[in-house]
Amino acid sequence: MSRVLRELGLGPVWRLRDRPAETVAVPEAAPSSAVASPSPAVPVSVQVSAAADAGGDRAGVIATMGWDELRSAVADCRTCVLGATRKQAVLGVGDVQADWLFVGEGPGAEEDERGEPFVGQAGKLLDAMLAAIDLKRGENVYIANTVKCRPPGNRTPEAEETAACWPFLARQIALIRPKLIVALGRPAAQTLLQAEVKIGAARGQVFQHQGIPLIVTYHPAYLLRNLPDKAKAWEDLCFMRKTMAGLA
Ligand code: URA
Repeated sequence: MSRVLRELGLGPVWRLRDRPAETVAVPEAAPSSAVASPSPAVPVSVQVSAAADAGGDRAGVIATMGWDELRSAVADCRTCVLGATRKQAVLGVGDVQADWLFVGEGPGAEEDERGEPFVGQAGKLLDAMLAAIDLKRGENVYIANTVKCRPPGNRTPEAEETAACWPFLARQIALIRPKLIVALGRPAAQTLLQAEVKIGAARGQVFQHQGIPLIVTYHPAYLLRNLPDKAKAWEDLCFMRKTMAGLA
């Protein structure tokens, strides 16, 4: 791992000094400075956008799928415009019974080529981040994205694209039933919390996505462009680890 971080210019190596056992309180709702709920009456909960249901009871059908059906449905999906330009849809990768679920934004060029999330430079950093807290892709970890098809030019997915893809991510979460969800970056955090999120303000807190604890941190691609913030990402990794220890 140290070699990877050195190659990425991200040394010193992130290493857990000792394994924390402290329990972290899980607030019912997000503090207002970090997360602005679209409806004050409904704090932090997910309300599936009506757009996700375009085309009848599509979301309802997806909500009943097993992994094989889900994989085929994602591979064949043409619900939004991203289906026209992608090479292949990228469902996700890892342990389908994982305690940890990491959710990114959407596939980039390499992911589109290879059909696996986070396999480019950002993926290498994500793997290093996982290793820093003794985790490994595929071992008690599942990695998914908010949208399954590459947005052209790696632009941020549009709201309709995220809404169209939401039933797939919702089904993945329902099938995996992770103990902890980590939202990597703003689009993932906003999709999962259905609210405006400022990553800087939301870090270090435990939110809830349908009863599942959720932590927000920087997207690895952001960290590659903003090296000074890797210290904060390290704090977030420690916080994730501590939170999971408190849940176990
Ligand atoms: N960035 C993401 O958000 N997801 C990927 O799969 C790759 C890069």
